[in-house]
Amino acid sequence: MSNNLLAGKVGIISGALDEKSIAWKVAQRAHAQGARFVLTNAPIAMRMGEIKKLSAECDAPIIPADATSVEELEALFSGAQEHLGGKLDFVLHSIGMSPNVRKKKDYGNLDYKFFQQTIDVSAMSFHKMMHVAEKQDALNEWASIVALSYIAAQRVFPDYTDMSQAKAMLESIARNYGHRLGVQKKVRVNTISQSPTKTTAGTGVGGFDAFFDYADKMSPLGNAPAEACADYCISLFSDLTRYVTMQNLLHDGGFSSMGISEHVVEALTKMAETQQA
Ligand code: NAI
Repeated sequence: MSNNLLAGKVGIISGALDEKSIAWKVAQRAHAQGARFVLTNAPIAMRMGEIKKLSAECDAPIIPADATSVEELEALFSGAQEHLGGKLDFVLHSIGMSPNVRKKKDYGNLDYKFFQQTIDVSAMSFHKMMHVAEKQDALNEWASIVALSYIAAQRVFPDYTDMSQAKAMLESIARNYGHRLGVQKKVRVNTISQSPTKTTAGTGVGGFDAFFDYADKMSPLGNAPAEACADYCISLFSDLTRYVTMQNLLHDGGFSSMGISEHVVEALTKMAETQQA
């Protein structure tokens, strides 16, 4: 259903790798709501070719950029403004990658070069995007910038290892740049802390199926699907949320407010009964 919530708005959407990607759904929803935008991803992700389908579907050009490179981000932001014919109204940061998680290194045996890459790709890239946007004066007043986070920024999920620190940093960058861009241009900056979601980045985390099921059983509404996360992003890009800024917004079906749920009690009781039998 479209209400043309983003009619006349233009922006940049990063991180659409394949149909499962959260950014993919955001692009589809933004297109349906009347936005025009540029898609971007790391040049290496482009080789997989999937993003071209999305580009055709949304009539959105692709400008490749490694989000760790300020030069490539400069080319992205200037190219996007050139293509879209003016300054931007929204930016989605949907980028995450940890070589330590990929290589299943446990928290006591992290590779520190990898750790730096994790921070660079998953958190500092967000600062770099806003730095470039500020230097190019690339944002319209009341523009909205959103990045995707995870509750491991606040709570311990052992297999999430160094991504937990990256997310904590990402959320802190949202607050600090949110202050700066708010004062300068009334731009808002938020993070959405999303439920576990079955995507390439998500399922790469060790024990993903277990913590997907656990979160689903703990959340009164169940895990929030990627499509619902996309809807939340659209609401934050729209004019209906103009005074929401510097927040980490939990989009998790209620997970973060729970202590224990009936489902988990039931599952643990059954397990104990089986062990006794
Ligand atoms: P995904 O794997 O589809 O997306 C991750 C994207 O990051 C990919 O498109 C990848 O190409 C891009 N990327 C990696 N390195 C890059 C670089 N150097 N420059 C530019 N782009 C780069 O997975 P998903 O789940 O859609 O991830 C999107 C965001 O959502 C990430 O920040 C992730 O941490 C976050 N998130 C995911 C959850 C999940 O369970 N899947 C839960 C909460 C947050």
